[in-house]
Amino acid sequence: MKLSDNKATLSFSNGKAAVELPVYEGTMGPDVIDIRKLYGQTGMFTYDPGFLSTASCQSAITYIDGDKGELLYRGYPIEQLATNCDYLETCYLLLYGELPNATQKAEFDERVTRHTMVNEQMQFFLRGFRRDAHPMAILTGLVGGLSAFYHDSTDINNPEHREIAAIRLIAKMPTLVAMAYKYGIGAPYMYPQNNLSYAGNFLRMMFGNPCEEYKVNPVLERAMDRIFILHADHEQNASTSTVRLCGSSGTNPFAAIAAGVACLWGPAHGGANEACLNMLEDIQRNGGVAKVGEFMEKVKDKSSGVKLMGFGHRVYKNYDPRAKLMQETCNEVLAELGLEKDPLFALAKQLEKIALEDDYFVQRKLYPNVDFYSGIVQRAIGIPVNLFTGIFALARTVGWIAQLNEMISDPEYKIGRPRQLFTGHAPRQVQPIGQR
Ligand code: CMC
Repeated sequence: MKLSDNKATLSFSNGKAAVELPVYEGTMGPDVIDIRKLYGQTGMFTYDPGFLSTASCQSAITYIDGDKGELLYRGYPIEQLATNCDYLETCYLLLYGELPNATQKAEFDERVTRHTMVNEQMQFFLRGFRRDAHPMAILTGLVGGLSAFYHDSTDINNPEHREIAAIRLIAKMPTLVAMAYKYGIGAPYMYPQNNLSYAGNFLRMMFGNPCEEYKVNPVLERAMDRIFILHADHEQNASTSTVRLCGSSGTNPFAAIAAGVACLWGPAHGGANEACLNMLEDIQRNGGVAKVGEFMEKVKDKSSGVKLMGFGHRVYKNYDPRAKLMQETCNEVLAELGLEKDPLFALAKQLEKIALEDDYFVQRKLYPNVDFYSGIVQRAIGIPVNLFTGIFALARTVGWIAQLNEMISDPEYKIGRPRQLFTGHAPRQVQPIGQR
């Protein structure tokens, strides 16, 4: 972070002395006004619910230009990564800052592959859940539970512990997600198979069974891998900020990532893919493409509480570049499976077309986000709707852990502790119960 020649001056209309605030420049994106000393200098806090104008940290991992619709991991455009690299190369990049060479890639792949099994005892822990539990409820528990099984990598201040916890989390998430799925349908768990790719192994753990050989379909394997790449990180979103805040207390990495999983579950965040598919199915049941106009009227009527799920973003005020890549994958997967005429895909395209031409969406700069098409791809692959957010959590784990490790290594890091504007009662006296 570079100190700028520019400075900000904050003046007050009540005669209080103005204060000068330093400004810092990043490599790209808006500069920041440093308000860390503001309270000491003025006795005042800033007020910014939802962090609309607040940078909570400095980070060198992911950059989004919301107006241009640009997403870079460590400087590389998402389009190039999604086309030229696989998910584990992307993980390496996010964790260590550079793309691996061939030797580094082979070593990293081998390390992750050798950590994919989970402690055998975890299946008994899993059995404590109801069979119909939501997979995100199970995952929140299982990921937090990892800290009980891998106690030798729970010291967040020890770089070796952080490194091994990162590998363990990336390696074990697909196993846990697949176990949660198999448990829900009463099927036997599949152990990981080390000669398969990360995505191929996941597909086998999900859809294979111990009685026969499972052949990985390369188109679906590539699609799964792309879903993972597109969800791998997204700078300081709600779940990542949750992981940072949780980790800032010094808690262990598994507990901090479990907090991220819990935050991701919400429909405004990672739960949007599930909500989006439910929405499409709902419109389809009620008349499909013919009813799109009616549905859009409801979306625009604020009193209806209906939103076009998979649309809009806090940062993107242009097309989410991940949505474009996901639409491409959607075409490939549906063609491979002979589902080109999938009515939900047709419906999604129609909704998108109408929305992009409608004043309501144009004025608010609402475009499709990654979740608009990811549900259709996942459904075609055979992933049940209630597991979509679990897949997102699996993929985002690397982003969470990279951001957590970056925070811990940052000399400026402190425990996160926001302030508040108090609007409750001034001090008052407790009255005896008979007089209240
Ligand atoms: N449908 C209808 N109206 C919308 C939508 C939508 N999907 N999204 C935003 N708006 C309206 C909103 O009502 C507001 O209107 P007005 O200015 O008249 O009050 C305006 O657009 C600005 O929206 P906002 O809610 O103030 O924006 P935000 O930055 O607080 O929220 C969001 C961003 C993603 C939560 C929101 O767009 C949303 O709820 N979208 C649907 C859920 C969704 O798809 N979420 C996935 C996000 S991408 C995956 C991820 O990274 O987690």
